[in-house]
Amino acid sequence: MKEKYYISTAIAYTSGKPHIGNSYEIVLADAIARFKRLQGYDVYFQTGTDEHGEKIEIKANEAGVSPKKFVDDRASEIKDIWDILNTSYDKFVRTTDEAHEKVVQHIFKYMYDKGDIYKSEYKGMYCTPCESFWTESQLVDGKCPDCGRDVLEKCEEAYFFKLSKYQNQLEKYIESHPEFIQPVARKNEMLNNFIKPGLQDLCVSRTSFKWGIPVDFDSKHVVYVWLDALTNYITNIGYDVLKESDEFKYKWPADLHLVGKDIIRFHTIYWPCFLMSLDLPLPKQVFGHPWVIMSDGKMSKSKGNVVYADDLVKEFGVDAVRYYFLHEIPFASDGVFTRDLLIERINGDLANILGNLVQRTISMGNKYFDGKVSNKKVNELLDEEFLNSINSLKAKVTNKMDKLQVADAIGEIFNLLRASNKYIDETTPWVLAKDDALHDRLETVIYNLVESIRVCAVFLEPFMPETSSKILEQINNSDKTFSFVDDSKYELGKPSALFMRIEINK
Ligand code: MSP
Repeated sequence: MKEKYYISTAIAYTSGKPHIGNSYEIVLADAIARFKRLQGYDVYFQTGTDEHGEKIEIKANEAGVSPKKFVDDRASEIKDIWDILNTSYDKFVRTTDEAHEKVVQHIFKYMYDKGDIYKSEYKGMYCTPCESFWTESQLVDGKCPDCGRDVLEKCEEAYFFKLSKYQNQLEKYIESHPEFIQPVARKNEMLNNFIKPGLQDLCVSRTSFKWGIPVDFDSKHVVYVWLDALTNYITNIGYDVLKESDEFKYKWPADLHLVGKDIIRFHTIYWPCFLMSLDLPLPKQVFGHPWVIMSDGKMSKSKGNVVYADDLVKEFGVDAVRYYFLHEIPFASDGVFTRDLLIERINGDLANILGNLVQRTISMGNKYFDGKVSNKKVNELLDEEFLNSINSLKAKVTNKMDKLQVADAIGEIFNLLRASNKYIDETTPWVLAKDDALHDRLETVIYNLVESIRVCAVFLEPFMPETSSKILEQINNSDKTFSFVDDSKYELGKPSALFMRIEINK
């Protein structure tokens, strides 16, 4: 029996085309999902779109189309970009799916009947783009603390969720589950800045706009977007109030919710409290990943510095873009995107370290042995260290991936690629080739190199799936063994460049 692994991304707003920041998240999730599959887990990978709310209603009006038409177009654009990035999600969910909407209504009613949701009145400062009410004391220089824009004073009848009721339970849970919020700095931030100072009840309905899931027993109200959005993680795997399907029992709790650092608060405060109200277990882990930023700071339309992943893929290819995101954004701090750095990585890491190694090795195998390479086992002392690094790759990559340190995991694979290039320099096959007596030594060297390339290709699959299969095709071996295999009979194919060098001035 395979062990299940449920991973989700945040569901993207359908207010516009997702930029490389939003796209980074799906690629990161994809790398983790693919790695778990490689390890033999029964992975369920869910992503999708968050389609309700005032902001979308306004955007649709501006565009002169119905909100439904507007979100249909955006959702299909987002899905296309996820596909262009070669992400292997199992389900793409939408909050306008009828089945989701119905279960959200059931959840709202259940919480109301239980006394966890009550009707009252909301007075406060409201930020329309963020769809959030703030108290005066939360404002920063009189502006929205999240986006820095102007807020309006608003008063409306609303339903509230009793966050305060779950405060102690939540605090105890977070303190006794140190792995729940990652990175640890985020856990401390949640506890000290938000939970310990006291949780205020949360407004969970709106009457000021229509584009939302109606509260079915009070049709003036629509469900506040975060209650609608967060529940996507359970409504799409067969949950309904008081009816938990076999699918739900198998998949829930999620193993990992992957979200950006800006929305970790919603996932580690609101979401756990909603789940406690439903008497459901909490997700095992929430990882608030850092952001992709530009050299002049945050990406924004007004700055004109927005970059889209599909444009980059068209220009540089999907695996170059995936490599950049996965390698360049550290675990706990923001990473910068620049075209120059992307080109530098393509030339340095992908064309040079990886591409050259593969091409040189296969060419030598073809030149010296007509492509037929087997292990003659004429080993020298330096082989031991080399074979050890091949055989320890699995443990090294696994160790980093278990800690969600994806950039470091790729770094381990590139260390082995570098070691393979060094092995060529040290064994100098072109010198061995001049002496017939060293024929078997030469074949052993080439064999060791091809095996190293094969193992690297196996571990590259989660990060650069196309490149991984191209390499396995070129060496003509689909053996997915994670360590050095000493008795393969290679019949190498023809080498072709995996990545083209790019001249900066072009
Ligand atoms: N709809 C909400 C999420 C609801 S989840 C129940 C939302 N959508 S979003 O489209 O604004 O963002 C989607 C994801 O992209 C979020 O996890 C967000 O943190 C992430 N990112 C947004 N900008 C980003 C960067 N510049 N860099 C990396 N991730 C970024 O929030």
